Amino acid sequence: MKLKLIICVGLFLNLGNSQVSKNSLDQKVDSLLNLMTLQEKIGQMNQYNGFWNVTGPAPTNGDAANKYAHLKSGLVGSMLNVRGVAEVRKVQKIAVEETRLGIPLIIGFDVIHGYKTLSPIPLAEAASWDMEAIRKSAEVAAAESAASGINWTFAPMVDISRDARWGRVMEGAGEDPYLGSRIAYARVKGFQGDDLTLPHTIAACAKHFAGYGFSESGRDYNTVDVGTSTLYNTIFPPFQAAIKADVKTFMNAFNELNGIPATGNSFLQRDVLKKEWNYNGFVVSDWGSIGEMINHGYAKDGKQAASIAVNAGSDMDMESYVYVKYLEELIDEGKVDVKLINDAVKRILRLKFELGLFDDPYKYCNEERENAVIGSKENNEAVLDVAKKSIVLLKNKGSLLPLKKSGLKIALIGPLAADKNSPLGSWRIAGDDNTAVSVLEGLQKYSGNILTHQKGVELTIGKNAFITETKINTTNRKGIKEAVEAAKNKDVVVMVLGEYGFQTGEARSRTSLDLPGLQDELLKAVYAVNKNIVLVLMNGRPLTINWANENIPTIVEAWHLGTQSGNAIAEVLYGDYNPSGKLPMTFPKSVGQIPIYYNYKNTGRPTNPGNDIVFWSHYSDESNEPLYPFGHGMSYANFEYSNLILGATSIKNIDTLTVSFTLKNTSKYEGKEVVQLYIRDLVGSVTRPVKELKDFKMVNLKPNESQEVTFEISKETLQFYTANNKWEVEPGDFKVFIGGSSKTTLEADFSVTE
Ligand code: BGC
Repeated sequence: MKLKLIICVGLFLNLGNSQVSKNSLDQKVDSLLNLMTLQEKIGQMNQYNGFWNVTGPAPTNGDAANKYAHLKSGLVGSMLNVRGVAEVRKVQKIAVEETRLGIPLIIGFDVIHGYKTLSPIPLAEAASWDMEAIRKSAEVAAAESAASGINWTFAPMVDISRDARWGRVMEGAGEDPYLGSRIAYARVKGFQGDDLTLPHTIAACAKHFAGYGFSESGRDYNTVDVGTSTLYNTIFPPFQAAIKADVKTFMNAFNELNGIPATGNSFLQRDVLKKEWNYNGFVVSDWGSIGEMINHGYAKDGKQAASIAVNAGSDMDMESYVYVKYLEELIDEGKVDVKLINDAVKRILRLKFELGLFDDPYKYCNEERENAVIGSKENNEAVLDVAKKSIVLLKNKGSLLPLKKSGLKIALIGPLAADKNSPLGSWRIAGDDNTAVSVLEGLQKYSGNILTHQKGVELTIGKNAFITETKINTTNRKGIKEAVEAAKNKDVVVMVLGEYGFQTGEARSRTSLDLPGLQDELLKAVYAVNKNIVLVLMNGRPLTINWANENIPTIVEAWHLGTQSGNAIAEVLYGDYNPSGKLPMTFPKSVGQIPIYYNYKNTGRPTNPGNDIVFWSHYSDESNEPLYPFGHGMSYANFEYSNLILGATSIKNIDTLTVSFTLKNTSKYEGKEVVQLYIRDLVGSVTRPVKELKDFKMVNLKPNESQEVTFEISKETLQFYTANNKWEVEPGDFKVFIGGSSKTTLEADFSVTE
C-alpha cells in the first residue's frame, strides 16, 4: 500500500483533469513501466471476460477462481463484459486496492449500436448518409455505456463487405470504402469526443484488422485471400479514417489473410499499422483468436501461438489466456524480446492515462449518473432521429405513401409487425428484450385510421437467441387464412416482413437471401386479395426480394432500427418524415451474383457483342444488374438533376476542379436528397473501378425549389494506391458522374496532367 502511495504521488501530482501533453504522458507511462515487474507487465496484456457474479462472493475453485487470483495479483489489464456501476466498481476495486501497483482496469464491451437505448444497426445507420446523426448516435452509446462503468467499446466495425451472405454486414457501413471511411471517422468521433478524460466519452476500437469482410463464400470466420490493390484501396481506407479520428485501439481478426492469420500477421500489425501508419494505440486480439491460430494450422500449441501473436504486434490477449501463461517463459527462452512487451504495455498504459483512470479509477462508477443517463428522453430522441434517417424508400409506385392520416382502413400484417424484440437487431448485449417500439405501436399513435392487425405466420420456432441456433418456421401456416381475411376490403395493407433480430450478426451467414420461412407465401396470399400493399422490410442485410419488387407497389427498407423502430417507421409511412436514406450496399437479384458491388472492374469483355454471341462477362440465367443499386433511395419528393458544369476540362494533378450542377425538387413535398459524386479513372497502373464514390452532400429543397450544388475534386479525390505502392494521382483521362444513386444521371469528362 505504501509503495502504491509513493507511485501515486510521484506519478500523478501534475496530471490534473485536462489532457496531458504527449511528452508528459510518455514520461508518466515510462516511469510507471519502470516500476513494474515482468509479470505485472504481461498482466497488462491480458484481458478476461466477466467471470463470476462479481457482486457475489469471489469463487474459490475452478477456472473463475484462477482468473480471480490473477486479477488480485495484478495479472489482468482489462476485462470485458463486466457492466453496470456496481459490478465494475467491484472489479476495479480489486485492481486498484488489492494489487501491488494499483493499476486500474480498462473495461471493454461491445457497444455496437447503443447500450440500453438502441440505435439502428450500423448498416442501417450507414443508410442515413448523415454523419452528424451517426456521430450523435455513437455519442449517446458512449454516454450510456460510460454511465454504466464501461470505458472502451469494441466498435466501430469498419470492415468493408460486398457479400450479403455474411451476417456481420449488419455491423458495418456496407460496401464502399469512401462512405465507410466517412462513417468510421464519425463513429470514432462520436464515441471518443475530443476529450477522453470526460466521464461520458469512451475509447473506440477499429475492427477487424483486416479483411474479415471478405470471408470466402460469405461464411463467417472463413479464409480471406485478397491482393494488394484491394487491401489498400478498399479494405484499409476506413481503418485509416479511424486513425485520423484518433481511434485509440484496433482489434485484429479471426480470419487468415493470404495464408497468415490476421492475429499473427506482422505485415498487417507491425509493417502497415504500427510502422507505415505510425499508429501508437494498441491492438487487442479478437476473442480467443490467438489460440485459434492452432486450428488455422499456423501454431502447434498455445505457447507458439503466443509467441507468434506478440511478435506480430497483437498487444492484448482477449480470452486465449496464452500471454499470461507463456510470455515469461518465451522471454526467458529468447523467443520474445522484452522490448516488444514494453512497447505493448506502454500502449495500454497510455490509454489508461488518457482516459483519466489514474486520476479517478471510479470515474465511470457513479450510480446517480447511471440512473439519469441510461434510457433518458434525450437519448431516445437521438436514436429516433437517426432511425428515421436510416429508412430507405426502395420503391413507391402509385400513391399509397405517404398514408393519409384519416379515413383509411388499414390492415397490418406480418410476423414482425408487432414484434418488440427483432427490431432491436443483433449485437445488443446490454439491451433488454422486447423493448423496441413495434410497428403496431408506432402506427397506433396515428389514431385517425382504422387499424387491424394479424401476424399471418410465425417467423421462427421457439425462442431466438444470440448464442444458440434458431429454427425458421417452414410448416406452420395457421395464421395465413386470418391474415388474408383481414386484408380484404382494406384501403392499404402494411406488411412487415424480414429477418428476426438475431438472423444477422456474428456466425449468421446465409446461403439464401430470400424472405425466410413462409413469408413470401404469406405475401403472395395477401396480394391475391389486395394489391395495395406497403411492404416494410425489417432486416440486417440486403435481400433478394425479386417477386416483391415486381409486384408490390411500395417497398420500405426499415432494417432493424433499434428502440424507437415503430415510431420511426410510422413517421415515415405517414409522411411526418420524408424518407432520405440511400442504400450503403447493393441488393442482388440472386445469391449467384455475389459478390456484387457498384465499383466493380470493367473486365476485358464488358459488353454484349450482340447476335447471340455468348463470349462476354455475364450470366446465362440472370442479368448483371442488381435489384437495387448502391446509393439508391427515394423520397416522396422528386429530384431532377441538370446543368453539369466543370470549372475546367483539364487540370494539373495538384489543382482542384469545381463541379457544379442544378438540383430541382419537382414535387409538392419538401425533401432531402443525398447527391453523390463518382469518378472513373479510365486508365491506371492498376485497373480502376467503373465508378468510385468520392463525395456526397445532403440537400434539402422545398417544393419547386432548385439549388446549384458544388463539389471540389482534388488530389485526395483522384489518388489511389498505384502499382508503385504509393498513393498518387496518375495523369490521364477521367469521368465525373453525378446522381442520386450509383446509377448516375449526369456525366462529364476531364483530364489530369503532370
Ligand atoms: C467478435 C468481436 C467482439 C468480441 C468480443 C468476437 O466474437 O468477433 O467483434 O468484439 O467477440 O465480444
